[in-house]
Order: sequence, then structure tokens, then C-alpha cells
Amino acid sequence: MKVDVLLGLQWGDEGKGKIVDYLAPKYDVVARFQGGPNAGHTLEFDGIKHVLHQIPSGIFRNNIKNYIGNGVVLDLVILRKEIEALFKYNLKPIDNLYISKKTQLILPTHRLLDAAYEKLKGKHKIGSTLKGIGPAYQDKVARIGLRVGDILRTDFEERCEKLSKKHEDLLNSLEFEYDLTELKKEFYDAVAFIKKYKLVDGEYFISSQLDQRKTVIAEGAQGSLLDIDFGNYPFVTSSNTTAAGAAIGLGIAPSLIGHVFGIFKAYCTRVGSGPFPTELLDELGEKLRAEGHEYGATTGRPRRCGWLDLPALKYAIMINGVSKLFMMKADVLSGMDKINVCTSYKLPDGSITEKIPYEINDMKIEPQMIEFDSWPEIGDTTVYSELPENLRKYVDYLESALKVPIEIISTGPDRKNTVLRNP
Ligand code: GDP
Ligand code: IMO
Ligand code: MG
Repeated sequence: MKVDVLLGLQWGDEGKGKIVDYLAPKYDVVARFQGGPNAGHTLEFDGIKHVLHQIPSGIFRNNIKNYIGNGVVLDLVILRKEIEALFKYNLKPIDNLYISKKTQLILPTHRLLDAAYEKLKGKHKIGSTLKGIGPAYQDKVARIGLRVGDILRTDFEERCEKLSKKHEDLLNSLEFEYDLTELKKEFYDAVAFIKKYKLVDGEYFISSQLDQRKTVIAEGAQGSLLDIDFGNYPFVTSSNTTAAGAAIGLGIAPSLIGHVFGIFKAYCTRVGSGPFPTELLDELGEKLRAEGHEYGATTGRPRRCGWLDLPALKYAIMINGVSKLFMMKADVLSGMDKINVCTSYKLPDGSITEKIPYEINDMKIEPQMIEFDSWPEIGDTTVYSELPENLRKYVDYLESALKVPIEIISTGPDRKNTVLRNP
């Protein structure tokens, strides 16, 4: 069996949580392979609206194993809260949540360091979610991080205090004020809580699932344009959000990657700093934000909004090897008078390109647009041929430009508002 990967093709928040929850009944295992609590994945069904940060989006479905892979950086305090928030739905994650022992831990001091580094950057800040992601990955690569498996060691607290002391010295040198007493207490409480969960040798876990012909879907976090290597560096997150990251973040051979499902909004959003060629800084952008409820699921920050960017989307499709596309939030565009799509970039020297220039952070790019008519409200249909004609024209155009089939059109936040192109 192969592992299918579902990932965001833009700057995150494409609707990954909704679609993973929708597809989950087809799979035996849903696995997160990178990122951490910087993610906010929203699920809506049966009047429930729930945001998951680290727990995979298969958790609401019966008989599915949810796995947190080694590529993730995990905040146990947030994880405990996430688990406890599921109790009211009668879910018992202790039965079907599996965590790789090789998953890196986010310590309370990683969160403080994130805030201290952002403060230091001043107006050049990345706009981090301040969840400690960058500092935790930094310690992983520096080979001084602590991992989930370490919480089972008798000297875990000693190891933790040693690393924490290093961080405290750094915070002091940056003259960053903090109080760790309460933060440490809730951290060690969370450690004791998580010890009872299924902490596994992750590579063997996934491999044995595949050997038993179980189906696995890997749930990406963030988006391809936030990838540490391929995003708009340095305005990126600290992990490989692209398909190759799934192999490393789960411990599977690259040849075991099956379908790559690429998910994109019918327009674009971005939270935090960094280039955004099609950003709308006028009332149209505000309208998109209002119609799409574009506020961060993790931080509540207003998302920057703009038109769909085909050069960026083609780039994301190329580096991920996307085999199927899912287009989200088609309903949001029915509120607009006209819809624009960027087909190429005009650079400051007057040249036109369909490629993302290396110097994108430093140059003013003029997006070259084509215009589409909008469509009326979509309603509740799940039959493709019943979607408004102009929406179907939009889908046809994108499909021919992107050269990958668009198989799902999402028409609302609820599980039910999902249209399969070829049911
Ligand atoms: P994720 O991080 O990729 O899982 O996406 P988020 O949950 O951060 O943001 C997507 C937002 O759009 C959430 O509030 C979803 O409930 C919502 N959403 C998902 N699909 C649709 C859709 O087709 N239409 C509308 N209107 N909202 C959607
Ligand atoms: P999901 O999985 C949107 C952005 C932050 C910031 C940059 C670096 O919900 O799509 P970090 O905290 O990772 O150091 O922040 O990345 N960012 C996201 N934007 N959706 C996310 O996750 C994001 N996770 C991080 O806003 O610009
Ligand atoms: Mg999100």
C-alpha cells in the first residue's frame, strides 16, 4: 500500500482540516508529518465547529488511527488541552491516538524564545504564531532537542532543566522578561498526562500498517509557499510542508508516496509577513475577508486576502507532484462582482514571467490579471452539474491552466458542502 498525501498549495489555511475529515472514512490511518501547534485545522459537521492544532483531523471518525509523526514539533501542554476538549464529544483519544517517540518536544522556553526573536526582528518580523516552532526545530537540527520518547526516561526532568537553562541564559542575554514557574508546572503535568498514551516506534508503526494493507493519508500543515526551502524565505515556517516532507516526517520510503492531493482556495490568503503579489489592500480585500471569515484559526489574526495566483499555484504543483486538485471556498466568490486571476508577473524591468523570481521579497511585482464573471449563491447541491455555470467555467479554465484534474469543489465550511466532480 502507498501513503496518500494531502497538503496546502498556498500559504496555509486552505481548508485541509475540512477535507481530511471528509476523506477520513476512506482511510485507516490519518497522520501528521510536520508542523505543530502553529496549525489550526477547522472541522464542521452536525452543528459542531472544532479547531484541531496537533491532533490529526481523523479523530472525529470511528475506527481510525490518528498518528503524530516524527517530523512534528509537539507542545504537550497544548496537546493535553486538545485531548481534553474532545472528551465532551465522548471521544477517547487514548484509544486511537499514536505518537512517534521521535517527535520533538516544544518546551515552554521555546515559546518564549520565539517571542524574543520576533521582538528582536522589529519591523522585519516573520509574523510567527509564537508557538515555539522555529526554536524547537532549531534545537532538533542542533542535535540538542528532546523527544517524546525521552519523557519515559527516569532523568527526563534533569535533561529538560538542562536545556531550559540554556534557553533561559539566551532569554536573559536578550533582556526578555518572563516568568517560568507556572509554565513549567503545566508542562510537567502535561508530561505525566501524555505518558499514558500510545508512544510508538513510528516508522515500524506505519510500516506494519502498510504491510497489513491499511490505507494511510498524510495530513499536511501550513502550505507549500511556507516551506522552509521553497517558500518565500525567510517568511516561512521551519519545516518542509511539501510532499517530500511526508516521507521524512513519517519515516516512509519516497517510493511509497501515492496520490498527492493539492488543496487551494479559489482565491488567496496569507497570515504574517512576506510577499503576496495578488494581495488586495482595498475594500475588495476587506470584502473577501468578511465573506470568507478570514481570521486565523490559531491566532485570530485577520488574514491578508487577494486573488488566485496561478504562477504560485503552478510552482506548488510542480514541487509537490500533485495528482489531484481540490478547490475550496467557491461560495465566497459568489459575493464578488468580478473575479480576477493572476496568470503571470510583470517584473520591475518590464519583463513578463510565469516563474517566481528569487528576488521576490525585494521587488514590486505587478500581477497580470484576467477577469471572470462571478456566480450566484451556490446553495446546498452536491451535484457538480448543478453548480452555477460561471463557477464551472472557472473550474474548467483553472484545470486547463494547471493541467491537473480538479476533483473536489468545496462550497461551504460544513462536511456536507462538498461537491465531487466524478462521484
Ligand atoms: P486549514 O488550516 O487548511 O485546515 O484551514 P483553516 O481551518 O485554518 O481555515 C479554513 C477556514 O475556511 C475554516 O474556517 C473552515 O471552516 C472554512 N472553510 C473550509 N472550506 C470552506 C468552504 O468551502 N467555504 C467556506 N465558506 N468556508 C470554508
Ligand atoms: P495551517 O496548518 C497559515 C505562518 C505564520 C507566519 C509563518 C511562520 O492552519 O494552514 P511559525 O509559527 O510557523 O513560525 O510562523 O507561517 N503560519 C501559518 N499560516 N496557516 C498555518 O497553518 C500556519 N502556520 C504558520 O503566520 O507567517
Ligand atoms: Mg489553519
